Amino acid sequence: MPRILTGITPSGTLHIGNYFGAMRPAIELQAGGDAYYFIADYHSMTSLHDPAKRRGYTHGIALDWLACGLDPAKAVFWRQSDIPEVCELTWLLGTLTPMGLLERAHSYKDKTAKGLSPNFGLFAYPVLMAADILLFDTHIVPVGRDQKQHVEMTRDIAVKFNLTYGETFVVPAPDIRDEVAVVPGLDGQKMSKSYGNTVEIFGEEKAMRKKIMGLVMDSRTSQEPKPDAEKNIAIQLMKLLAPADVAADHEARLRAGGLGYGDLKKALFAHYWDFFAAARAKRAELAANPDFVEKVLRDGAERARAVADQVMARARTACGLR
Ligand code: ADP
Ligand code: TRP
Repeated sequence: MPRILTGITPSGTLHIGNYFGAMRPAIELQAGGDAYYFIADYHSMTSLHDPAKRRGYTHGIALDWLACGLDPAKAVFWRQSDIPEVCELTWLLGTLTPMGLLERAHSYKDKTAKGLSPNFGLFAYPVLMAADILLFDTHIVPVGRDQKQHVEMTRDIAVKFNLTYGETFVVPAPDIRDEVAVVPGLDGQKMSKSYGNTVEIFGEEKAMRKKIMGLVMDSRTSQEPKPDAEKNIAIQLMKLLAPADVAADHEARLRAGGLGYGDLKKALFAHYWDFFAAARAKRAELAANPDFVEKVLRDGAERARAVADQVMARARTACGLR
């Protein structure tokens, strides 16, 4: 059975780009594989230096995943820092990672270009991610397109280790869903916490209605035909959030003329709110039971450790530390 692993960084509140790009595929896969999912709290340290926020986001993300359908009976779910050996493996891998490989990382280049002052952790981020993946003998990594390069770097590092020290690590492959590879944000760029253009999965009703109704459109009147209807952000989001025939109908009416932007946005909000209704109720239940959530993470860490200990021992022996 292939082992599937993915992580999500607690650096903010999760949005529907995270949901369609990473969570939903991962949750679908938990039934058919050996699923390992974790909260990447060490990764969050590269850009977030507020302890209360880190704790809050970590707990929030645990609630989000469980509410959206992660089943702890099927998937192993833990907090990255509960298995600190991942830092040990980061060191082993880092000594075989060429500087040039890290210098070419898009995410590092993007973040520094945006003015984030780079620290060693941010530069080493792909090596920590490689350690996350390799420590659990992972075969498949479901991620959004923006993480593809990181998984490719992981493959390079695994191959280099295996060539240098003998067959030690499984070489993993990314799993990227083309239809939702990039969920657009409210401004048309990729939806991302760092661009302030997100639709939160579990936003508060009034604020979310305001956000969606505030979507900026062009000045064409409602009667005008819109031959570029498929490019409209509300239509693109509706294709994810509404049944296919409903989204197609809105697109056709927008294209033909006669559907106003206000009505389109109202419909989008209604479908967004419905789409997550069941998960919202589940999340409220879980939020009232923090001990249960903590127990899920602790049990998950114990199960994850059983694999990590074996792989780490193999790696230490391979490179002559033991
Ligand atoms: P953000 O860009 O908001 O900081 P992360 O980098 O923490 O998001 O991404 C967490 C996961 O969600 C990754 O697997 C990533 O590929 C996926 N993801 C994030 N934004 C999107 C998006 N707009 N479309 C599709 N997948 C996304
Ligand atoms: N870097 C990923 C992101 O920002 C999160 C992550 C950390 C991850 N370790 C991972 C994803 C291992 C997949 C596998 O989205």
